[in-house]
Amino acid sequence: MQSLTEAWQAFIQQFDASLQKVYADHGEPQERLFEAMSYSLNAGGKRLRPFLVYQFCKACGGDAEKAFHAALAVEMVHTYSLIHDDLPAMDNDDYRRGKPTNHKVYGEAMAILAGDGLLTDAFSTLTRAPLPPDRIASCVECLAGNAGPWGMVGGQVLDILSEERELTEQEVRAVQTRKTGCLIKAACCLGVICGGGSAEQRSAAEAYADHLGLAFQIRDDVLDVIGDAEKLGKAVGVDAQKNTFVRLYGIDACQERIESETQAACAALHCFKNAELLRDLAQYLAKRDH
Ligand code: IPE
Ligand code: IPE
Ligand code: MG
Ligand code: MG
Ligand code: MG
Repeated sequence: MQSLTEAWQAFIQQFDASLQKVYADHGEPQERLFEAMSYSLNAGGKRLRPFLVYQFCKACGGDAEKAFHAALAVEMVHTYSLIHDDLPAMDNDDYRRGKPTNHKVYGEAMAILAGDGLLTDAFSTLTRAPLPPDRIASCVECLAGNAGPWGMVGGQVLDILSEERELTEQEVRAVQTRKTGCLIKAACCLGVICGGGSAEQRSAAEAYADHLGLAFQIRDDVLDVIGDAEKLGKAVGVDAQKNTFVRLYGIDACQERIESETQAACAALHCFKNAELLRDLAQYLAKRDH
């Protein structure tokens, strides 16, 4: 059987090649906008969310080819969230995916608009998926719900509003679930929808995503302290004053928590016949260095 790293690398190669074509040769007068959107979309990245879409579609016995539009849409929304997250009004970061941040290259106004463009075009992309209309509608509902004010955007707001004070564990969880967990959940559920999975499989995907998303953000916070900027492609030490899990638990307890959440994520997958890659993925992410 193909190992996780082989499967993931092969997926990244193929997916990245498709991304190159998304805004190529559009011939529109607003060329600069497409350049800015393309710049961040093609800057690299782990492509975790699109990979989750594909893997859940396959785990449900679906045709992964039909999940491409959903995979692309969630990566577009994720990339927009990163462009806006890096803006001076938010985290004010200069470096992302190993390159200068979008606003450093294109200016703040264009970076805001590139984010807006990616967000709206993600939904346009979803509507073109080669799926029955009811599945497309479910995909739109799932992505919009998880990306919007009840999801990722809501989490970013809680993150900003909490900068002035120290949060409780429950409050940090409320931020994390929304700002990071929701888009990971969207990716897993989109895969189930594209693959025609059952209600039981949808609930299992949600449970996996909840635990994986928590482990993922704790590891993100840990890497901000012990990680290497070169490997991460973003600056480290920038969250020292923020309400991170490291501030809450300390590094050692964070790693223990990552491991228990990873085990819980794996245990949630019992109703899928072949979910070995999803288990390996969770284990890999627990120790990731980028
Ligand atoms: C970074 O996400 C932002 C968080 C939600 C912690 P990723 O670590 O998945 O970033 P890329 O896509 O690989 O650049
Ligand atoms: C950002 O969380 C999550 C989103 C972009 C929605 P962080 O601010 O911790 O992400 P990084 O560390 O800049 O990637
Ligand atoms: Mg942030
Ligand atoms: Mg940030
Ligand atoms: Mg971070």
